[in-house]
Amino acid sequence: MTPSPTSLTALSSWQALVSHSGEIRQRSLRDLFSEDPSRAERMTVEGAGLILDYSKNLVTEKTLSLLLEMATQCRLFDRIDSMFRGEMINRTEHRSVLHVALRMPKGESLVVKGVDVVREVHEVLDRMGSFATRVREGSWKGATGKTIKNVINIGIGGSDLGPVMAYEALRSYSDRDRVFRFVSNIDGTDFVEATRDLDPEETLFIISSKTFTTLETMTNARTARAWLLARLSSEESVRHHFVAVSTNAPEVQKFGIDTHNMFGFWDWVGGRYSMDSAIGLSTMIAIGPDRFQEMLEGFHAMDEHFHKSPFERNLPVLMGLLVVWYTNFLGSQTIAVLPYDQYLKRFPAYLQQLTMESNGKHVRTDGSPVETTTGPIYWGEPGTNGQHSFYQLLHQGTRLIPIDFIGFANSRNPLGHHHDILMANLFAQGEALAFGKTAEEVRASGVPEFQVPHRTFEGNRPSNTILGQELSPRTLGALVALYEHSVFTQGTLWGIDSFDQWGVELGKVMAVRIIEELSGQSPKGPPHDSGTAALIRRYRDMRRE
Ligand code: F6P
Repeated sequence: MTPSPTSLTALSSWQALVSHSGEIRQRSLRDLFSEDPSRAERMTVEGAGLILDYSKNLVTEKTLSLLLEMATQCRLFDRIDSMFRGEMINRTEHRSVLHVALRMPKGESLVVKGVDVVREVHEVLDRMGSFATRVREGSWKGATGKTIKNVINIGIGGSDLGPVMAYEALRSYSDRDRVFRFVSNIDGTDFVEATRDLDPEETLFIISSKTFTTLETMTNARTARAWLLARLSSEESVRHHFVAVSTNAPEVQKFGIDTHNMFGFWDWVGGRYSMDSAIGLSTMIAIGPDRFQEMLEGFHAMDEHFHKSPFERNLPVLMGLLVVWYTNFLGSQTIAVLPYDQYLKRFPAYLQQLTMESNGKHVRTDGSPVETTTGPIYWGEPGTNGQHSFYQLLHQGTRLIPIDFIGFANSRNPLGHHHDILMANLFAQGEALAFGKTAEEVRASGVPEFQVPHRTFEGNRPSNTILGQELSPRTLGALVALYEHSVFTQGTLWGIDSFDQWGVELGKVMAVRIIEELSGQSPKGPPHDSGTAALIRRYRDMRRE
């Protein structure tokens, strides 16, 4: 039987935080900063090459000490340690959760159920390295002897979002002589647009799917095979143009991919935690095995920091606790992630799966209902574009939206003053949101009276600032691990299983049933509601063929 998680709301720290939140609502960041000139210094921590300034949050020393006490009362350290030891903490799926083993250095060992998982990880990394090198050097040829110029990853969810995000983030390190594309959507447009200008003889498909049964991926993979065979009629050519990344060798073989060209991983790697496993094969081909290794080192440095640093200086723990603070005590519903780096344009989308598939849960590990609101909605866009779009609501809207700003001291593309202007905007936004502009200040600047309320900024809008040297493979690894472990911290406090995703199942099953109906088969199972039945009828009437 699964032991009941700690009752969060019964904890003394919870009760204290409830009453403390009333005090904090009366405080302003203006006052907190003017009362304590060393606030920013005290509330800045460093780990794995990243700096987190959390001073512009609606917290005092008392808030922090109560949050840290709550983490201790929820036995956060034991849970972290259990994960690192490979215990079966994903209880609903009876699995260990060992993405941290994916980035342990060669030579270290972690034995789970009698198997040294680190050794297995490095065997796969070595095979990936040889394959990636062959593609990069041009010695892996297509069936007609042509060099592979195009690499297309077909996958969805964790088998797509991580690879796309990492490719975009590390594009400046990538092999510019090759085209990298990503097909995920079942919408045929995705495949057609990704392949329309490519020569099948020069194209390699990586079919990435943990289960190798996902409807979208398998449909796209079959379409890819047909596209290839329309040019290269021999089935034999498939093995030159398709490789697989999966945990399911029998299905890979059934599809017709030589299992020598399959790169495996394990059930203890969750899809959304897999971009540094073999699912990162496209990343490795793009940036090369050495850079990929640097990315793993970045992940590992943050893992070590999370496992070994005291909570009060622990970046993921502090970020996770702040999310719980805003979500449960100050009533915020969302977190905005705003990277001031164009290369991170897909980072918010990547985080949406990581955070919301992990912590969008309504029951605890023992099946009992959660006691509090859980996973907030994550969203975002790169700065400065967002400033000319939704920042109005951040500055003057009626909602509390905590923000993570992300920026780097150095640009990968130094161009005149661009980078200073970019970063000035990041710093200005954090400052304006926190301190605003009072009516008196507005008046003093000569604004006509009728405009004063419109041009007043109440401030007190919280943000974190995450700062790194530059967006390198190492920094990216550390940044992703930072969010992975922040999610884990949040999930631990809420007592939920952050590693299952049962909530995606129902829609999948219902879609399969409706697919049959759309293709003319008579409905099976219970009747649809009248609205859905009418939509299906209308769609069939409107469809051209
Ligand atoms: O539908 C959700 C999900 O199961 C994700 O958790 C996963 O990342 C994605 O589908 C893809 O799964 P697979 O890698 O097995 O194709």
